[in-house]
Amino acid sequence: MKIVLAYSGGLDTSVIVKWLKETYDAEIVTFAADIGQEEELKGLSAKAKKTGASKHYTLDLTEEFARDFIYPMIRANAIYEGQYYLGTSIARPLIAKAQVEIAQREKADTVAHGATGKGNDQCRFELTYMALNPRLTILAPWKIEKFRDEFPGRAEMIAYCEQHKIPVEASLKKPYSMDRNLLHISYEAGILEDPWFDPTTPENKGMFKLSVSPEDAPDKAEYVELDFEKGDCIAVNGKKLSPAGVLKALNKLGGKHGIGRVDLVENRFVGMKSRGVYETPGGTILMQAHRQVESLTMDREVMHLRDSLIPKYAELVYYGFWFAPEREALQAFVDESQKHVSGTVRLKLYKGNIITCGRKSKYSLYDDKIASMEGVKSWYNQSDSTGFIRLNGLRLRARYFSQGGPKT
Ligand code: ARG
Ligand code: SIN
Repeated sequence: MKIVLAYSGGLDTSVIVKWLKETYDAEIVTFAADIGQEEELKGLSAKAKKTGASKHYTLDLTEEFARDFIYPMIRANAIYEGQYYLGTSIARPLIAKAQVEIAQREKADTVAHGATGKGNDQCRFELTYMALNPRLTILAPWKIEKFRDEFPGRAEMIAYCEQHKIPVEASLKKPYSMDRNLLHISYEAGILEDPWFDPTTPENKGMFKLSVSPEDAPDKAEYVELDFEKGDCIAVNGKKLSPAGVLKALNKLGGKHGIGRVDLVENRFVGMKSRGVYETPGGTILMQAHRQVESLTMDREVMHLRDSLIPKYAELVYYGFWFAPEREALQAFVDESQKHVSGTVRLKLYKGNIITCGRKSKYSLYDDKIASMEGVKSWYNQSDSTGFIRLNGLRLRARYFSQGGPKT
């Protein structure tokens, strides 16, 4: 048996390397995706090999993540349950896809991950494995009783590492769980499990990594101008940047002004509710800016149709159906809708707020001659609206009379 494991170097996946190797007498190849999580990647290869891996891969997928996953999702304006920008959800199909590719290259028959049986991540990983190579065997130790019996808590895992000389810095465990990438950091579990717990108090200040609190943000607002082409942001303050470059620049800018913090309770795919706290500075700016270009350039009916599909699209990403025919069909529609979503947006960032201060586009559908109250001669004839409203009101009048309203 040869297993490719999605590996982070943390306590769980470190234990899993060794445990899989011993339990299945297997060869273990570890894989970590660089998707903008910054500090956590140094020394991973040496660590994995010390833990028992025969080979380790760290692949820089940052640009692919931004270009082929985050950007298509922003074109769709996807937000889950009206609040969550899907930062973890959108990363999982990319990690799983790269893992499947490594399995192919390494002639491995099995893929494994360290997500629990209670969360969303297991769904996203495994649905992607199945979509891209259904022949692979899937191992998820947290869903195997023997593993759970051996490791009822962290103490047993730390003891196991000591016993097997596995290098882990597990002594100072954070009182919550964190997941970081180019789009966001999520915080959940531990102290955050109480949905009444306030994470914004000064005592908890150290938790947030990407943003200052709005109270600590500068007293002076800062302007930023974003250029969009076909729904994608291509430049920040006139400077052309790659998709990952845009996200990095906006994370910095947004973080400085306390933008993009959310605290919510969400519905997991497996049925339970879960409390999460998120920092998505750049993504929040991008989403609002994108909407502004759309407001100027997008046809009303196309926009309303697309808007009606946002909850569905977001749900598909959240549940893990990225490599699924319905997401691809929706994406084709979304991308078609973005053909003329090109232009420039001016925003002002101020203490957690994004204030829109203007938008322009060569494809603008806004016609001041039509919209203006100045009565300029144009296609619009005010008398037309009498019949327009009369016919639209026809069935409302009919209902009034059919329900017994007096006829005179
Ligand atoms: N609740 C969020 C989601 O399902 C964040 C999950 C965080 N995952 C993690 N392994 N820490 O997308
Ligand atoms: C996990 O349970 O593995 C992390 C949280 C989630 O996937 O929702």
